[in-house]
Amino acid sequence: MDLQGKAAIVTGGARGIGLAIVEELAAQGASVVIVDSGVSISGEPEQPRLAEEVSSRIDGTAAVCGDIAEVEVARNAVELSQKRFGAVDIIVNNAAIIRDAFIFKSDPGNWDAVIRTNLSGAQRLLAAATPAMREQAKTGRAPGAIVNIVSTAGIYGNFGQGAYAAAKAGLIGLTRVVAHDLARSRIRCNAVAPFAATRVTESIKPANEAQAAYKAKALQVPARYVARLVSFLASDRSAHVTGQLFGVRGREVFVFSQPRPAQRLLQGEEHLDLQALEQHFTELVTDLEAFSGDPIL
Ligand SMILES: NC(=O)c1ccc[n+]([C@@H]2O[C@H](COP(=O)([O-])OP(=O)(O)OC[C@H]3O[C@@H](n4cnc5c(N)ncnc54)[C@H](O)[C@@H]3O)[C@@H](O)[C@H]2O)c1
Repeated sequence: MDLQGKAAIVTGGARGIGLAIVEELAAQGASVVIVDSGVSISGEPEQPRLAEEVSSRIDGTAAVCGDIAEVEVARNAVELSQKRFGAVDIIVNNAAIIRDAFIFKSDPGNWDAVIRTNLSGAQRLLAAATPAMREQAKTGRAPGAIVNIVSTAGIYGNFGQGAYAAAKAGLIGLTRVVAHDLARSRIRCNAVAPFAATRVTESIKPANEAQAAYKAKALQVPARYVARLVSFLASDRSAHVTGQLFGVRGREVFVFSQPRPAQRLLQGEEHLDLQALEQHFTELVTDLEAFSGDPIL
């Protein structure tokens, strides 16, 4: 029971990977506020009371039915955690939607909706929760932990996922900044790119054979492995881990390198030639192609 006495907020916690995270945190002794708007994969209203229904089945949880990108919903979640569970120790920004379109067909409304949920939603909750988390750390409570659920799409890119990948890449950037901003309080912030069978994995429309292989294999991977990594990152056992970017696919846990200059070239007055840098160019491969191999379960 790594998380006994801790209070967590998990967005998008009523299904899929978020639900697996809620179940694992609760099993490890945490109390959990589930924030979920009960929307479809693309963010259309579907089951608005879903968070309450799920919470009624899991001991030690409470529900906020709403859109995490609403400032009021984020505030309500923090207040509920404080009133019902006495603190806010753990934040998991997991809620996300997908509205794919090639850039040459992309629609501004769909773009904004994806950025709003997948990136601004995390800002709303962090802005509401981190003042309380900083105060708690000052009073001697063990410093809290934040886990942002990102995607390999934001690292590699994938066909037609401009909005989704941009939001996730933004969330990776936010992870680094939040890790810096909260370092003095010893509150940690890490990002996790998951792989797991959910309704989203089921909905993948493969663009080639490697992507079809990815889908078939991803559908074998239970979300509980993601939940175990998130639970570890939320616990005091990972008190030294912050600002890192992880991946998790079944039993495999990856740490990703983060972009740093790989090679330097000095410009002269003559015609610029990048040949000296070419050995460090990055192959243009989608995430689904890069991870189309067999998962280890
Ligand atoms: N499934 C995978 O293999 C995979 C791969 C890469 C990244 N991810 C990421 O993992 C996370 C979970 O994905 P999933 O596959 O479980 O998705 P899912 O669609 O099954 O679940 C998402 C949940 O978030 C909720 N939600 C959506 N918008 C919300 C909002 N504005 N406010 C509150 N709740 C909201 C939905 O109602 C739903 O319950 C997402 O961040 C996703 O981008 C998943």
